[in-house]
Amino acid sequence: MFLYITNIYKYYTKKSEPFQGYKMKGWFFIMNEKVKDLLQQQVNKELYSAYLYLDMSNFYTSSSLDGFAHWFKLQAQEEFDHAMLISQYLQNSDIDVVLDAIDAPNASYDDFKKPLTMALDHEKYVTSLINDIYSEALANKDYRTGQFLDWFIAEQAEEEATAQDLIARFELFGDDSKGLYMLDKELGARVYETPSLEL
Ligand SMILES: [Fe+2]
Ligand SMILES: [Fe+2]
Repeated sequence: MFLYITNIYKYYTKKSEPFQGYKMKGWFFIMNEKVKDLLQQQVNKELYSAYLYLDMSNFYTSSSLDGFAHWFKLQAQEEFDHAMLISQYLQNSDIDVVLDAIDAPNASYDDFKKPLTMALDHEKYVTSLINDIYSEALANKDYRTGQFLDWFIAEQAEEEATAQDLIARFELFGDDSKGLYMLDKELGARVYETPSLEL
């Protein structure tokens, strides 16, 4: 019995834990530093995504394509919600969220199609960022973060497919003014859906 208690004591007080990242201090989960940094950076990246889509929305507003503008404004809102979800996950793990400066989009749009192709490229980039965090989490046996990111992996696949679909529809209808008008009407009917992930 004494040996058993001593071993338990040793387990919870020893200096070096068996895992690099996913560690237990007492009963609390301690996140690996690199995973923590990447998640904190991702909050900023999601806020930048919101900025970028808001910029695209403003471009369409100034071009009198209010349906496209509405669609991108909701897209910006969705990105803001992604930032909030990651913030909440960090806070649930007892980690402070540090907000950094958000880069200006500084994008120039030559034509109505340009924001659509840029949006697809941007989503592919974000997918690569999420994948990197996922890899880092699993390398550190942080399955909790891996499970949290599962939602984002699926979300990115959906975002890429939606961006691709938008380009395809623009290529079909965007050249013709009547087709562009119809597409604008359709995009203007988008309804915001809050993320299905609850923390
Ligand atoms: Fe996002
Ligand atoms: Fe996105």
